[in-house]
Amino acid sequence: MEENKNVCNCGCTNEELNKILNTYTQNKDNLIQILNEVQEYYGYIPKHAQIAISEYLSIPMAEVYGVITFYSRFTLKPKGKYHIAVCLGTACYVKGSGKIMDRLQEKLGIKPGETTKDGKFSIEATRCVGACGLAPVFTVNGEVYGKATVQKLDQVLDSLE
Ligand code: FES
Repeated sequence: MEENKNVCNCGCTNEELNKILNTYTQNKDNLIQILNEVQEYYGYIPKHAQIAISEYLSIPMAEVYGVITFYSRFTLKPKGKYHIAVCLGTACYVKGSGKIMDRLQEKLGIKPGETTKDGKFSIEATRCVGACGLAPVFTVNGEVYGKATVQKLDQVLDSLE
């Protein structure tokens, strides 16, 4: 496969990407599975991977991009060292998770889907994470913090800094 040099700054090599691609046939039905593996490996779907997948499966870039943006589990930007997700599902929302999300954005100066410039924090709004009994809930790198309050969020953020 042709190398895509200097298309991103994620520090990866195409060798790693090729290894993932070569475990699949060039059938476009493999798109979601390949995206899952790329997301898992890099933590997001880098631009050079989108190009390589598009070439490998012979499908337009727009289609690859469309699938990535359709599914919330795929992201186009690298996540921070600490990825914080606030559940905005119904049970959490009625118990005040909106205020937690507001505080998070105010404190870190970023919006859902963004990462701080130093790469330390990224935030995301999620749907129900299956812990409604603990509502409102937020997670840090997948670890659940239940019965959350703005004060609790501040404490957790301070402990991560
Ligand atoms: S609605 Fe938040 S965990 Fe279910």
